[in-house]
Amino acid sequence: MSDFDTIVKGGTVATASDTFQSDIAIRDGRVVALGHDIGSADQVIDATGMMVLPGGIDAHCHIEQESSTLIMTADDYYSGSVSAAFGGNTTIIPFAAQHKGQNLRDVVKLAHDRAGPKSVIDYAFHLIVSDPTENVLGQELPALIMEGYSSFKVYMTYEMLKIDDRQMLDVLSVARKYGAMTMVHAENNDVINWLSERLLNGGYVAPKFHAVSHNSIAESEASRRAIDLARLVDAKLLIVHVSAPEAAQAILNARNQGLPIYGETCPQYLFLTAEDLDRNGMEGAKFCCSPPPRDQAGQEAIWLGLTNGTFQVISSDHAPYRYDETGKFNAGPNPTFKKIANGIPGIETRMPLLFSEGVGKGRLSINEFVALTSTNAAKIYGLHPRKGTIAVGSDADLAIWDPTWKRTISETMLHDNMDYTPYEGMEVTGWPRTVISQGRVVVMDEKLQVERGSGEFLERQPIDPDTSIPTDNSPLSPKHNFGADLL
Ligand code: URP
Ligand code: ZN
Ligand code: ZN
Repeated sequence: MSDFDTIVKGGTVATASDTFQSDIAIRDGRVVALGHDIGSADQVIDATGMMVLPGGIDAHCHIEQESSTLIMTADDYYSGSVSAAFGGNTTIIPFAAQHKGQNLRDVVKLAHDRAGPKSVIDYAFHLIVSDPTENVLGQELPALIMEGYSSFKVYMTYEMLKIDDRQMLDVLSVARKYGAMTMVHAENNDVINWLSERLLNGGYVAPKFHAVSHNSIAESEASRRAIDLARLVDAKLLIVHVSAPEAAQAILNARNQGLPIYGETCPQYLFLTAEDLDRNGMEGAKFCCSPPPRDQAGQEAIWLGLTNGTFQVISSDHAPYRYDETGKFNAGPNPTFKKIANGIPGIETRMPLLFSEGVGKGRLSINEFVALTSTNAAKIYGLHPRKGTIAVGSDADLAIWDPTWKRTISETMLHDNMDYTPYEGMEVTGWPRTVISQGRVVVMDEKLQVERGSGEFLERQPIDPDTSIPTDNSPLSPKHNFGADLL
């Protein structure tokens, strides 16, 4: 009888803090030993020449979810999770989205019904709170936080999802009191509508005007306001999908004051620009997402934010709407920029793009890469140390990465249910060869190795307001404006 189920042998292990040569022994889905000559195993995976990394955690993706205008994503939990796995992920955190009038319990049940039979890797849910009624704030949200749904997203834009500042204070206060992370889509809805109206009235309807209407001031103003609202009630806040340099600066300023403010950005803001929205005909629709990609200088500012303490997390914001009438052109064949479905795919390309351009080109260390794509999300969203690291006792979630594998991205090689990738033709070096989730080989030899529904739902810990998640940039402690009893 063997000592272990599996040994991953001969690789270079990298975590958010260390890089070292080690074999990894796995039993019952967990890492049980690290070192050399550690024993025998039923299965030995040769990782010579490979980097062995914690499996990626994509902490912001829209899978089998209706948009604000009720358009269903092209990916369900099967294609979405398979695509995630082929891109090196072992955990996804999509959304259980409340639309106005729905109660949160029904929303959570629906998300479970959709994910349970299909997901091939582990998953948790963030809630989307669009209707913070008395019952939601007083009953449902506190109970759900205690049951492991310890993060939720709110919107400052999108007519059907947005909440006002007063409602945001209500939601932040509940998060503060019960231990949850509030994520915010920060764009000023009135600014966007004001600009959109003028553009449309002037006949400026092409996809590129989406980026004009979602001016970076709409993003930076809303980001600063959201930070101030969080400050007022001493709540943690994570600003998602940041693309505007001024918004990034606002996050950095807050963190330098010791405030518990966190930032997330996405590959689209590192690899695309607003010029992509100006491609031939309606092609620009493929790049319409909110907030939009900015200019070259903006891209550089976002790259800088990955290493100067602004951003802790890089997620895909995978929001797959096909380039057809089921997705981008749901409103008709030649929609104005205002009617194009918002969102772009990227769950499979997130880690390879960042590895290639970040680690490969010397902009990020391998440890920073691991922190940004896995460890920090695990810490921020209550999954660490079970997830996000390679350590004795942690889940054996591994991406065995070939740092020399050269690939040209094309939609045909990806496993999502999309008909385009915004990164078509880009050349990358580095891609995972083998992906292991809780000790199960999910991807090997470019093939899926597991059954649908074999992923597990992850109940998360409430986020204690006093636990240390990626350290704030300043030694100053957060300012407490109110005692918790007032919230
Ligand atoms: O354009 C985007 N990002 N669509 C997805 C929904 C969201 O707001 O994240
Ligand atoms: Zn958003
Ligand atoms: Zn999103």
